Amino acid sequence: MRCVCAADFCSLSFQRPVAPICGKDCLFDGVNAVNKSNKIFVAGHSGMVGSAVLRRLEAEGFGNIVMRARAQLDLTDESAVAKFFAKEKPDIVVVAAAKVGGIKANNEHPVEFLLENLRIQNNIIHSAHESGVRKLLFLGSSCIYPKFAPQPIPETALLGGPLEPTNEAYAIGKIAGIKLCQAYGREYGANFISAMPTNLYGPNDNFDLETSHVLAALLRKAHEAKLRKDQKLIVWGTGKPRREFLHVDDCASACLLLLEKYDSPEIINIGCGEDISIRELAELICDVVGFNGDLAWDTTKPDGTPRKLLDVTKLRDLGWKPAIPLREGIARTYEWFRVNCV
Ligand SMILES: NC(=O)c1ccc[n+]([C@@H]2O[C@H](COP(=O)([O-])OP(=O)(O)OC[C@H]3O[C@@H](n4cnc5c(N)ncnc54)[C@H](OP(=O)(O)O)[C@@H]3O)[C@@H](O)[C@H]2O)c1
Repeated sequence: MRCVCAADFCSLSFQRPVAPICGKDCLFDGVNAVNKSNKIFVAGHSGMVGSAVLRRLEAEGFGNIVMRARAQLDLTDESAVAKFFAKEKPDIVVVAAAKVGGIKANNEHPVEFLLENLRIQNNIIHSAHESGVRKLLFLGSSCIYPKFAPQPIPETALLGGPLEPTNEAYAIGKIAGIKLCQAYGREYGANFISAMPTNLYGPNDNFDLETSHVLAALLRKAHEAKLRKDQKLIVWGTGKPRREFLHVDDCASACLLLLEKYDSPEIINIGCGEDISIRELAELICDVVGFNGDLAWDTTKPDGTPRKLLDVTKLRDLGWKPAIPLREGIARTYEWFRVNCV
């Protein structure tokens, strides 16, 4: 596709003017076209989100992608990250590297969740600025919003009340990352944007019951209950809380759209705009997996926030919508799990 860029400033040439018709291959037609020859560093490319972004970039024909495994580049190492950026000088950065975990891990290790995430994001964002990165996408999470935020949660709810205590350290780290991106924008004109995805699932999800999120944990538990021919599957809580789930490939397509079209320092939510009760989710998972026993609810375990749904008006107004229905997404994820994890 040929670029029809008609702006004096292309988003990816944020700090320098470009010719009105840049004449290069672009992801989309439009003023903020992403150039397929741009050097893109996907930090955290082996993770669930990073690998989905990578798949999407490759599928779109991006050929100049930079990756580093943790063994090659520890992102908590300030001088190693600075050297990497000075040498590679990427045009675009996607920050999908983070220490990520479920409620149990977050609750038990707040120090590691806060410190490691601050280090990773500070190193990347600072070095990105120093080395002249033209656009950076920082990935936060819906857990940055107050525990009792209005539903669906608009971006303006940020810092409007106390956080959920179990993941407060993680959320504070992510909020610091958002604020750092905004500060680089305000002080130096950097085009560093921040997106807040809802609960994600899909290939490369974490299926370790000690550290996983709810959907992956239920998928594994239902699978194992089926193999053992159990009569019942015990699930935490009452099943009443409502949550939103987005397939990670949809999240990746939203990330590419934001790289292309979104240049505001204000945060933007990524979600499907629909929620489901944990009971409905568990039933759906059992159906997909083929577990025919009963669900038993362990009501001694906490439910957490009654509802968590993101307001995705801003993203939808950019023309984006998800493509993968929940049932299909779960079936695809179950297939991935069976091939890769059992
Ligand atoms: N998962 C969700 O439901 C969800 C929802 C909303 C937002 N997000 C956000 O999306 C981002 C990515 O999450 P994810 O689910 O993809 O996590 P993930 O699967 O755990 O992936 C994290 C990635 O970061 C890398 N990493 C962590 N520490 C590193 C270090 N010190 N040096 C180098 N690499 C390091 C990991 O490398 P290794 O492979 O070596 O560990 C991995 O590639 C996070 O910012 C998260 O907040 C996720």
